[in-house]
Amino acid sequence: MNKLQLIFKNLIKCKTPQELIDEGTNSELKKTLNAFDLIILGIGAVVGTGIFTIIGSAIVGSQDGAGAGTAIVISMLLAAIASVFSALSYSEIASMIPVAGSAYTYTYATMGEFMAWMVGWILMLEYAIGNITVASAWTGYFVQFLKGFKHILPAFVVNCPLWLRNDYRTMYELCDKYGWNVHDKMPFLNLPFGIEIPFAINVPAIAIVFVLTLLLIKGVKESTKVATIMVGVNMFIILSFIVVGSFYVQPENWGTSMASFAPNGIEGIFTGAFVIFFAYIGFDAISTAAEETKNPQKDLPIAIMGTLLICTILYVCAALVLTGVVPFDSIDTQAPLAHAMRYIGRFHTGMIQFINFHAGLISVGALCALTSVLLIYQLGTTRILWAMSRDSFLPKSLNKIHPKFKTPHVMTWLSGLVVIICALFMDLNLSAELCNFGTFTSFIIICIAVLILRKTEPNRPRPFKVPFCPYFPIFGILICLALMYYRFSAKATSALYFIVWLIIGIIIYAGYSYNSKRREESEQI
Ligand code: ALA
Repeated sequence: MNKLQLIFKNLIKCKTPQELIDEGTNSELKKTLNAFDLIILGIGAVVGTGIFTIIGSAIVGSQDGAGAGTAIVISMLLAAIASVFSALSYSEIASMIPVAGSAYTYTYATMGEFMAWMVGWILMLEYAIGNITVASAWTGYFVQFLKGFKHILPAFVVNCPLWLRNDYRTMYELCDKYGWNVHDKMPFLNLPFGIEIPFAINVPAIAIVFVLTLLLIKGVKESTKVATIMVGVNMFIILSFIVVGSFYVQPENWGTSMASFAPNGIEGIFTGAFVIFFAYIGFDAISTAAEETKNPQKDLPIAIMGTLLICTILYVCAALVLTGVVPFDSIDTQAPLAHAMRYIGRFHTGMIQFINFHAGLISVGALCALTSVLLIYQLGTTRILWAMSRDSFLPKSLNKIHPKFKTPHVMTWLSGLVVIICALFMDLNLSAELCNFGTFTSFIIICIAVLILRKTEPNRPRPFKVPFCPYFPIFGILICLALMYYRFSAKATSALYFIVWLIIGIIIYAGYSYNSKRREESEQI
């Protein structure tokens, strides 16, 4: 067989579901998680930046797209519907092939090596780039939280310079917005030939990723214990926002006509759905912990569907209260829920102390939510890299398991470092939209994988089956495509970056294919 024939053979070479299951069964990872742990993991991964931060720009809009206005509730339901069909598909495959690696692994079983690599590469957008979004939002809430202690903490901590809590892109944006001189606001490294490099570093974001990396190395069970506490706190905070806020809802804020309900019509609703989709991302992270689950066939579908249901109910209620309390064009885009509380305070001065306390509490809840998302996303990144290195896409030396903690410690460091380095030059909105593109693509591929496996493995036991197949997976594909189309047609910067990301992935794969050492390793698999 000549080299080209070999490359083509590998391009479409699939692993059988049985091979994958055997790999998972022989895995050295400890099997400690049950359905409850998985739901905690799911809610911890889903509830975060989306509901605490991004909901603001999904309602109001941004330079790059129209907002949904009060019709955000429709956008949320659209995003939830796109997620449900994919969640059902994830549940079917995860219960059938319960191994680490999520969509990457499932693609290997259905569409061959090249597509599997591309999906792994795209999943890095969802997990690692998504983590940059969350780490940036974490800094924002952390700074707010510190300001609450301004009477106790030294001034240099509370008012630490902007260049120590933002990436350089955000610094340029801030300087642009407020008309500041960039040279006054951040230091520059002067290189020969007059080259200047701006120096801005998001210290809190980097510090939290570093701490969580250490925690993940210590063990997944310990990490989910921390996530359980965080999830408890943030559930309580969101519920209290819904309950307290509902007493101050002014129904006229929801709109008295179609034009005031959906000020940017269908375009605003679809763009809002694309943007707020970030809030739903995460339930698929549950499937990345399949090899560490005691009874994956039963627990994975329960956890995936349960998480999605709980989060959808919570989001829709929170969105109704938010848009009912604050007129849509006055909603804040940095910390919309905390701002809504302060907004109430302006009109109910008798309650001001309670309302301010509650706004502070929301910041604490947001910090907990964002911390658990960071934790679980890093867990997801590590497990996908682990599955990819098992298939020789990454050097085997990275695949080492820690002798004491039984966790893939080299991978965990690697995934932490990727986030830390990228957080130096990527901002919140760009990384969120890139993450959405990556996730929509992986959802589409999962729906296609269900359709393929129903044909190629009709008799393999499926503890959970997508109802109304093939219609449900096809609906899932169409909705995800429609939402992506809206963003592409608006020529958003993120759409361009997404295409560049895909091209880089194809080039790297081509490099792998010509690398004979890697090819030999993959031949032995
Ligand atoms: N759904 C997660 C969040 O909103 C990614 O932060």
